[in-house]
Amino acid sequence: MKVSPIQEHTSPLDAQQAQQLSALIETLTPMQVTWISGYLAGINASAATGEVAAPAEAAAPAAQGDASEPLTILYGSQTGNAEDIAESLRERAEAAGLNATAYDMLDYKPKDLKKEKNVIVCVSTHGEGDPPDNAEELHAFIFGKKAPKLDGLKFSVLAFGDTSYEHFCQTGKDFDAQLEKLGGTRVTDRVDLDVDFDEAAEAWIESTIDKYKQELGGGDTPHPTVTAMPGAAPAAEGANYSRKNPYSAEVLENVVLNGRGSDKEVHHIEMDTEDSGLVWEPGDSLGIIPENDPAVVEELIAALNLSPEEKVTGIDGEVTLQHALTHQYEITTLTRPLIEKYAVQAQNESLDALLAEDQREALAEYMHGRFLIDLVEDYPIEAMTGQDFVRLLRKLPPRLYSIASSHAANPDEIHLTVAAVRYETFGRARSGVASIQLADRSEDVKLPIYIDHNKNFKLPDNDDAPIIMIGPGTGVAPFRAFLEEREEREAAGDNWLFFGAQHFLTDFYYQTDWLRWRKEGLLTRMDVAFSRDQEEKIYVQDKIRAAGKEVFEWIERGATVYVCGDANAMAHDVHEALLELIGENAGLDADGAADYLKNLQKEKRYQRDVY
Ligand SMILES: Cc1cc2nc3c(=O)[nH]c(=O)nc-3n(C[C@H](O)[C@H](O)[C@H](O)COP(=O)(O)OP(=O)(O)OC[C@H]3O[C@@H](n4cnc5c(N)ncnc54)[C@H](O)[C@@H]3O)c2cc1C
Ligand SMILES: Cc1cc2nc3c(=O)[nH]c(=O)nc-3n(C[C@H](O)[C@H](O)[C@H](O)COP(=O)(O)O)c2cc1C
Repeated sequence: MKVSPIQEHTSPLDAQQAQQLSALIETLTPMQVTWISGYLAGINASAATGEVAAPAEAAAPAAQGDASEPLTILYGSQTGNAEDIAESLRERAEAAGLNATAYDMLDYKPKDLKKEKNVIVCVSTHGEGDPPDNAEELHAFIFGKKAPKLDGLKFSVLAFGDTSYEHFCQTGKDFDAQLEKLGGTRVTDRVDLDVDFDEAAEAWIESTIDKYKQELGGGDTPHPTVTAMPGAAPAAEGANYSRKNPYSAEVLENVVLNGRGSDKEVHHIEMDTEDSGLVWEPGDSLGIIPENDPAVVEELIAALNLSPEEKVTGIDGEVTLQHALTHQYEITTLTRPLIEKYAVQAQNESLDALLAEDQREALAEYMHGRFLIDLVEDYPIEAMTGQDFVRLLRKLPPRLYSIASSHAANPDEIHLTVAAVRYETFGRARSGVASIQLADRSEDVKLPIYIDHNKNFKLPDNDDAPIIMIGPGTGVAPFRAFLEEREEREAAGDNWLFFGAQHFLTDFYYQTDWLRWRKEGLLTRMDVAFSRDQEEKIYVQDKIRAAGKEVFEWIERGATVYVCGDANAMAHDVHEALLELIGENAGLDADGAADYLKNLQKEKRYQRDVY
């Protein structure tokens, strides 16, 4: 009989209990195991008083300060990661007896910073090393002329980012450096989190709560409730699928929305969510945990001269190399940390030279358009094992897609609008991991999905309020959900859509839906920009400028402005067009127009979901 590890070490459990507990533990991530260990230690430590202590409490040394002193957690987050962790941090700090409050940076008065004694910043980076929308103002404030002296402030920063971006965790780095420069004292060293952040975030929270407890005290009045980390397994199956516990969904429909001859390939995807219990709101995204293309895996294993059947310790224990590279690790995108680790084994002078500090541009150029297989071929490593190789890799990150359907209108299905990423570089055909899995290989398989809630991209509570939706290309997806929802709710508010694409004939996504809604009066106005149907290119920002007076009138009568789609050019150009029309129609100079738009953002009447 297999002896459970629990049973081996602890006698009070009977065999069945021990087996059940072992089975449960096997389903947990190391982060969750760490958390539960702390939780149990807390129970143990407080058994005499009957109080349930949080993990940090069990380990915290004697207090030095005043536990009632406020601990302010400020989060800046675009797609919700930093926000979720900030919320979890707050709950756990509270459970540890600290007087913690979490604020969306947008709802926080920058001037209040000088009154703070204890601050924790959880912030992501977007754009090209820029703050997320809700962090812009506070970020600008601490770097501005009015930035206060912050002597006496104890601060810590948790930075969210992605090592595949050049300016990795730049906003977190900015906050960390500037708070110190203004006089603050760092309590916990900043940690820069990559896309697979759960375990590192957990470790940081654990030690940060401990340190603030040392600074402030706490623990005299422990909070009896201990809540789960984001991503932890749900209490009731079905009710709460998450990134860590995704739902397996079948693709019911996969239709290319472009007509023949289009340069684009955008798929309308419908997924079955019946019986899943998944609930979403318009503006939320769907997270998909993708798989790598089997052909790419095969080619990579061949280039490495390894056997697909070689056993390696992957993310959840022993698997074949082929399984690990298909399901668990990122094997396409090159990142600097990956190349640095690879270079240690490659011992190749020209690769080392590429990693020199003054060669950042050359390295960025090398990484652009190349995959991991190019690195392996360009700088081969003799006698590397599969295990050595997977140790270099990061976990395959999920991809997000704006949900293009309303739960109220269609509770059993999720619709997406997915642009297929295909291109050729350095003589190789390349494809995007998730978009091409959805486009080409989603039949007859179940895809792990979860809802990525986004409270920063939401319809107004007031159904009578007008909305202006700006969504060229796949950016139109959430607006289909917005209109389905407003139709379902019989919302009386006016709806105006700006859509843009290359050609009217081949790229007018969901044309029949918009035309029906126009006819029925739900869609009050629609302006389209087909950039390549005439000599001079026309984009949504041109249409917005042309209708500047009316756009301003809508804003003045309470409209919320939504922008979704391309972050690189479109979001910036639309922003400029809005500033311009506000300036012109409100009679404001550039600073005045910027303040006006900033205020709209603060009132949550200018919301962006750009990628
Ligand atoms: C909140 C949010 C909502 C989103 N909603 C949608 C949506 O509704 N629809 C949608 O289609 N996408 C959406 N995206 C983008 C989506 O998440 C994926 O990033 C996108 O589908 C690409 O993923 P992939 O796995 O197919 O490609 P990946 O494997 O991630 O590859 C993409 C990468 O390939 C590289 N690349 C692409 N083209 C080239 C080229 N020509 N030359 C060199 N390198 C190139 C770039 O580095 C690019 O980042 C959204 C993103 C976010 C954050
Ligand atoms: C459009 C876009 C741009 C991004 N730019 C950067 C960047 O410049 N640097 C970085 O480290 N991460 C970048 N990221 C990655 C995010 O910071 C990362 O996904 C983070 O976990 C998001 O946290 P949030 O959900 O709290 O916003 C970018 C992500 C997106 C979607």
